[in-house]
Amino acid sequence: MKFFNIQTFGCQMNVHESEKIAGSLVEAGYQPTDSVADADVIVFNTCCIRDTAEKRIMGNIGAVKPLKKADRSKIVAVVGCMTQQDGMKEAIFKKFPFVDIILGTDRLDRIGDYVERVAMSNGKRPKIDDVHNIDTPEIIENTPIFRTSGTNAWVNIMYGCNNFCTYCIVPYVRGRERSRDPETVVGEVRGLIEEGYREITLLGQNVDSYGNDRQDGWNFAKLMRAIDGIDGKFRVRFMTSHPKDISEEVIDFMAESVHFCHNIHLPVQAGSNRVLQAMNRKYTREHYLYLIDRLRAAMPDVGITTDIMVGFPGETEEDFQDTLRLVEQVRFSNAFTFIYSPRNGTVAAKMEQIPYAVKKERIGRLITLQNSITKEISDRYVGTILEILVEDAPKPDLLCGRSDSGRLVNFPGSADRIGEFVRVRIDKSRSASLWGEIV
Ligand code: SAH
Ligand code: SF4
Ligand code: F3S
Repeated sequence: MKFFNIQTFGCQMNVHESEKIAGSLVEAGYQPTDSVADADVIVFNTCCIRDTAEKRIMGNIGAVKPLKKADRSKIVAVVGCMTQQDGMKEAIFKKFPFVDIILGTDRLDRIGDYVERVAMSNGKRPKIDDVHNIDTPEIIENTPIFRTSGTNAWVNIMYGCNNFCTYCIVPYVRGRERSRDPETVVGEVRGLIEEGYREITLLGQNVDSYGNDRQDGWNFAKLMRAIDGIDGKFRVRFMTSHPKDISEEVIDFMAESVHFCHNIHLPVQAGSNRVLQAMNRKYTREHYLYLIDRLRAAMPDVGITTDIMVGFPGETEEDFQDTLRLVEQVRFSNAFTFIYSPRNGTVAAKMEQIPYAVKKERIGRLITLQNSITKEISDRYVGTILEILVEDAPKPDLLCGRSDSGRLVNFPGSADRIGEFVRVRIDKSRSASLWGEIV
């Protein structure tokens, strides 16, 4: 028996792509293992969204060196976003001469073939790299997917991003937007529901621009309708929405649909119009607040989460106060907060940067504020009954799952209930998570 181990970094897109990498390796005759030491093939599926991600990955790749020294037959592959940056594949081969394979973001389905090529080689091992030109990106269909996500299945609806927010590396490493064929997407979702998946999460860097590249009349709202028409008891979520593109139709359909959750991740990034403009986000604070009102009017129980960045070049204390005020005003269920990190090749990296100490101090204040709001919103659920999809058993006799609105709930129960919808009475809250009992 031969084994592979994949370390995944970055967003949900990468989590799902690791399932495709695994699919390709299973087809090549390998089995998954959680142990890096036992693995014959070690894969790093990388992210370069922030410097911290990249540093951590570099550290983890370096840690493989002694393993490879002890067993020369191990095959090491570095794949995904990080490798698509200019000069990066050369840098990786130079820094880590034991790396055998480097693959870009649209080449992951080929990993099984490349691993076989390395494994079959006699004498000097080939160095394989297949990092592609992102200006001619492809859509790869019919890849085997080795799903590991339990009750939830990820489904890509589109790849790439055209937005070029000035801080962001994604458009440079993922290429232009391309939408999958709607019939293929709907067919995939139908198949997954028939297989027993209870939740589908639709993935795209900007799901609201689904269809823009197709000229056949399909948009995200139409795709939602087609998916909502599938029979069965299941939930659908999607990410990520963009405040400049989300339509009234999408909001209204979320409210009236059978299967779509009342839950949305709507990254705001900043509360100051000056900063939003410098970020090239193409919406204002006022428009964002309008969308929040609109979502809550359509769905009073909607759970709203966001991403916020502090320390963008030129952000003044006043700008930052605008962000704090927006957070107070909106009252997000949860917020993912980031310190701005300059990325090579992006517009903002060339702007005048703010000292790290200032960014660090700001994010501290932001986190303190959001934590108190998260706790307060959680407290409001105590005493209510929520319908939960049982997703996992983190410990024997302890289950967890999420509500329609996206709240994480823990409650006692046995693992054979995973995949069921249960009603849970909430007894207590602990910051972002809730605790209760099945009724
Ligand atoms: N497509 C999504 C997610 C992109 S990456 C969107 O448009 O929102 C996820 C989050 O990482 C972003 O929302 C942003 O808050 C953060 N991020 C992106 N680039 C960053 C950078 N250079 N430094 C710090 N955080 C960044
Ligand atoms: Fe990056 Fe902006 Fe595209 Fe999101 S919308 S992936 S933040 S460029
Ligand atoms: Fe990271 Fe690539 Fe996702 S850079 S956040 S893994 S799209």
